[in-house]
Amino acid sequence: MSDPKTDAPKKLFIKTYGCQMNVYDSERMAEALGGKGYVETATPDDADMILLNTCHIREKAAEKVYSELGRFKPLKDAKPDLKIGVAGCVAQAEGEEIMLRQPMVDLVVGPQSYHRLPALEEAAGKGAKVLDTEFPEEDKFETLKSRPKAKRGPTAFLTVQEGCDKFCSFCVVPYTRGAEVSRPAGRILREARELVEAGVREITLLGQNVNAYHGHDKGLAGLIWALSEIDGLDRIRFTTSHPNDMDDALIEAHGTCDKLMPYLHLPVQSGSDRILKAMNRKHTAESYLKLIERIRAARPDLHLSGDFIVGFPGETDQDFEDTMAIVRDAGYGTAFSFKYSARPGTPAAEKVAKMVDPEVASERLARLQALITQQQRALQDSMVGREVSVLFEKEGRLPGQMVGKSEYLHAVHALAPADLKGRIAKVRIKASGPNSLAGELVGAN
Ligand code: 5AD
Ligand code: SF4
Repeated sequence: MSDPKTDAPKKLFIKTYGCQMNVYDSERMAEALGGKGYVETATPDDADMILLNTCHIREKAAEKVYSELGRFKPLKDAKPDLKIGVAGCVAQAEGEEIMLRQPMVDLVVGPQSYHRLPALEEAAGKGAKVLDTEFPEEDKFETLKSRPKAKRGPTAFLTVQEGCDKFCSFCVVPYTRGAEVSRPAGRILREARELVEAGVREITLLGQNVNAYHGHDKGLAGLIWALSEIDGLDRIRFTTSHPNDMDDALIEAHGTCDKLMPYLHLPVQSGSDRILKAMNRKHTAESYLKLIERIRAARPDLHLSGDFIVGFPGETDQDFEDTMAIVRDAGYGTAFSFKYSARPGTPAAEKVAKMVDPEVASERLARLQALITQQQRALQDSMVGREVSVLFEKEGRLPGQMVGKSEYLHAVHALAPADLKGRIAKVRIKASGPNSLAGELVGAN
C-alpha cells in the first residue's frame, strides 16, 4: 500500500532511545509497518509517521521524549496528516497521560502490543487517537513471523526473553515490560537462521534478564549450544544477566563453546551489602566476586562489564567506598554507572527521607566514572601486541580502513580490503586509542 495521492511509499521515521531491546523492537516495528507500505527515512522532515521508541529507566530518559515531541510541533502544523506515535516503556508507563500532555500525539503503543501497529496505524489514519498498552494473549513475535530477506549487516540483536521477575527496588522494568516470558527455542532458532541467511554472522541474544531464559529445557546454555550448530553463525553474545541466574551450564559454556564470545555483562549495581539488600538484589558483594572467579576459571580471558548506581537512598560514604572497592576487585573491561533516579511506583522511590544530596551523588558518580575509565583504558592498552579476531562491519574513516569488533567487543580498525566486510580476520593490535584499537591484518578466514 502507498500514499493514494502520490503513489509514493509512505515514510516512517523512528527514533530509538534506551537499551538494545528497543533497537530490536524498532526494527520489528519498521518491518510491521513495511506491510502497510512504509519505508524508513533518516529524517523526521519528510516523514508521514514519526515513532519515538522510548525508555523509562531514568527520569532524564523519560523527559527527553516530551522535549523531542515539542520539536515535532512545526512539522505537524505544516502537515496535519503526519502521524506521531510514542512506543516503548514511556508509552507503557504513562499511557494516556502522554496524549494529555502532548495532544498532537496520535498513537501510544506499549512494548508488548506493537505487533498490532498495522491496525493501530489504520485507525490513526482515520483520525482516531489510539492507545494500546495491553499485555495481550497472542505472541507478538508469532504475529510478526518471518524477518524480511533483505541483506543485512554482519551483527544483529535477537530478543529471546522479555520482562523481569526480580523486582530490584529501584527498577521500573518489571512494571513496564511485565513478568518474565521466554520465547520457545525453536522459534528463536528459525529467526536466527533467517538472520544468517540475510548475512548476519554475530547474534546478541537479548533479554531484560536473559540468563533466566527457560524456553529451552537446558536454559540459556542449551539455547546457545543449539544456536552454535547453525552454519555461518560465528559469534554468539547475550545480555543482560543477573548474577543469581548464572547457572553451572552457562558458566561451563563460557569455557567450552567456541562461538560464545568471551564477554559478559553482569551488573552488580553496588559493592555494599547494606545497599544490595535495600536494592533487593538477593546477593552479596562477596558472592558476586566468587561467581566472577568461577566464570574466569572457565574462561580466564573473559572481559567483564557491569552497571552501577550511585546515590541510592541511604548510601553512605562507606557504602560508596565499597562500590569503588568492588570495581577494583572485579576488574571491569567496561562498566556503566548512573546516578540513582527515583522512578514512580518503585519501592525505593518511597524512601524520600533517605535521598542522597544530589551534589554528593554527582561527586560520587564522577569518582566512580574516573576509576572505571582508568580501568577500561588499562585493559584496552594491555591488548597491544596481542592477536584478536575481528568481525569487520564497515569501512573506517581513513581510505582503505575497515572497522569491526574483537571477540572482547573492542572496536578495532585496520587497513583491510573492503570485501572483508562481514568476515572475521586475525588482527595484531599495534596501538590503543581513547575509544578503539588499531591493528594490522594477520590473515582472513
Ligand atoms: N536509577 C538509576 N539507574 C537505574 N538503572 C535501573 N534503574 C535505575 C534507576 N532508577 C540502571 C541499572 C541497570 C541499568 C540498565 O540502568 O544500573 O542495570
Ligand atoms: Fe531491573 Fe535488571 Fe533488577 Fe530486573 S534484574 S529489576 S531489569 S535491574
